[in-house]
Amino acid sequence: MKSVKKAVIPAAGLGTRFLPATKALAKEMLPIVDKPTIQFIVEEARAAGIEDILIVDGKSKRSIEDHFDSNPELEAALEADGKLEKLQMVQETTDINLYFIRQSKPRGLGDAVLQAKAFVGDEPFVVLLGDDMTRDEVPLTKQLINQYEKTGESTLAVVKVPHEETKKYGVIDPIEKVGDNLYQVRQFVEKPNPDEAPSDLAIIGRYLLTPEIFEELENTKPGKGGEIQLTDAIDSLNKRQHVYAHEFTGRRYDIGSKIGFLETSIEFGLEHPETKDELREYIKKLAQEM
Ligand code: G1P
Repeated sequence: MKSVKKAVIPAAGLGTRFLPATKALAKEMLPIVDKPTIQFIVEEARAAGIEDILIVDGKSKRSIEDHFDSNPELEAALEADGKLEKLQMVQETTDINLYFIRQSKPRGLGDAVLQAKAFVGDEPFVVLLGDDMTRDEVPLTKQLINQYEKTGESTLAVVKVPHEETKKYGVIDPIEKVGDNLYQVRQFVEKPNPDEAPSDLAIIGRYLLTPEIFEELENTKPGKGGEIQLTDAIDSLNKRQHVYAHEFTGRRYDIGSKIGFLETSIEFGLEHPETKDELREYIKKLAQEM
């Protein structure tokens, strides 16, 4: 069995939910306290043993490339000022095998993943979406790799969501549990209305896919919203090989919505050594006034 060493991070979305902030700035560069969200995603991949990462970006995404590049002027200034901790912090992100490709037109998530075909070649790989951040003892990406090492087949992550929220996600129709938190799946449906949703198990942005997905993507017609949907290609793949669903039980942060982004910022702010004490006091004071 080939080991999983490559990851693809689609980052070509227009970020319309965060306008006007994302008019000129990539939404993946919005920080949680002091770290751009895409850096958390890259760190999760690396913690799972991923060696090479392809970022599929679009227009206005130069800042992502710059963030993971060296910045000699800044580094020299920090060194001269003896700010060695900060120096280490900015150098950390340059020591990663990152590749970039541009999705010329926003044709959907499936099309973004298809751009990774040459990079991936004939290997299993993971896809990480920037709208979900996760935390658990074992990083979610590593959990998917562990499942793959048992089955040799594609596996994606799902979580239970309130039924009325199924219309925001890809949803699975599970057949039965076939292992620890692992489901065999009858069907994958992109953003069903709650009255048609086959379950409350929603796909979150972590997928481990075999390279056969590219043939499916090439044959996938535009689906929901007129876009090439990854969920539709996965549903076709599931008819050729199994695509399993792994139920994630750790902490998930939905940073693709404004409220989720604010909640995550507060939680991380309450842990950050430079902000936690003052933020706790501030929240207490605010709560008393409400
Ligand atoms: C995408 C997928 C969807 C999945 C979701 C997870 O939707 O198409 O199946 O449930 O990511 O975040 P998007 O949120 O990009 O519309």
